[in-house]
Amino acid sequence: MKYDIKVTRTNNSRVSDVDFDNIPFGRLFSDHMFVSEYVGGQWINPRIEPFAPFLIHPGSMGLHYGQSIFEGMKASLSQDGDPMLFRPEMHGRRLNVSAARMCMPAFPEDLFLEALHMLVGMDRTWIPPKEGSALYIRPFMFANDEFIGVKTSQTYKFIIITGPVGPYYPRPVSLLAETKYIRAARGGVGDAKAAGNYGGAMLPAKLAQDKGYDQVLWLDGREFKYVQEVGTMNIFFVIDGKVITPSTDEGTILKGITRDSFIKLLPELGYKVEERPLSIEEVVDAYHSGVLQECFGAGTAAVVAHVDKIAYKDLIMELPPMEARKVGEMAKSYINALRAGKIEDKWGWIVPVKTEALVG
Ligand code: COI
Repeated sequence: MKYDIKVTRTNNSRVSDVDFDNIPFGRLFSDHMFVSEYVGGQWINPRIEPFAPFLIHPGSMGLHYGQSIFEGMKASLSQDGDPMLFRPEMHGRRLNVSAARMCMPAFPEDLFLEALHMLVGMDRTWIPPKEGSALYIRPFMFANDEFIGVKTSQTYKFIIITGPVGPYYPRPVSLLAETKYIRAARGGVGDAKAAGNYGGAMLPAKLAQDKGYDQVLWLDGREFKYVQEVGTMNIFFVIDGKVITPSTDEGTILKGITRDSFIKLLPELGYKVEERPLSIEEVVDAYHSGVLQECFGAGTAAVVAHVDKIAYKDLIMELPPMEARKVGEMAKSYINALRAGKIEDKWGWIVPVKTEALVG
């Protein structure tokens, strides 16, 4: 290992309290966390310590002006019970794309990977054994200058916490295509995993929930014409046998790593995938012509969330039932089997946790 990551182990593991057959999403936190601070132009004091709350100054800039970004990734167990990470390099790269957009310092990608291997290696008993469950990994970074003026912070904190999770959406979801609020516009921060993107989506999501929908289907910010994403996940449609997902080149849609995995693996499974602008009218026309076969969200947390209903203006599009949701189901089973080490990983997406991280 290249970096000197100081390790302080807990004397009081909480893992025996976990009911691995009944794991809610996002409420359980493993025994340890990785922490490092950015001070004087460099990342210092990388360390793994017992998971615990920490003090934060009320003037900490990350609380006020939103220089705050995160990642979401997963670790799972192989058939032999060895811990494995899913596409960790890509998450490290995307973290730094978000950091650059938010005028935050890059976190060294080799240190990011080393920290992940050590942390997941230490907390490997927290990885749920059941296929479809995983250890969710949440790296995040926030501005930490104690200052109330608006400027770029000079100090930052980078932390990785983890916790066992089950499915994010245990049931199919219903979506309301939003025609008043927007998530992202050209030139904005829609393709960064910036905390504010999620905060800004809360009111429209609540209004959609008040109308009986689970989530918002975001449309573009200029014309409310093109489908973007769901906020918690990217979106795929199956129309007349073709798999279509909105292209990300306008910089308004998060470049999802599950999205990228599906774009690569679905052609191998015999499906034609198109990445292109997709208008909501095209979805409506496909619905009226009887060729809107499937819609599903794809994301690290969600993996695949089938969509059973989409509302757009006065139209409610009921999607075909579960038996017809072949593409989404196939993509989900494939990723889950890959994560469980049950099928060959021809892309090199699965990275075994380094053996030197498994001692102790
Ligand atoms: C993820 O899929 O990992 C995400 O970060 C989305 C979400 C849980 C906010």
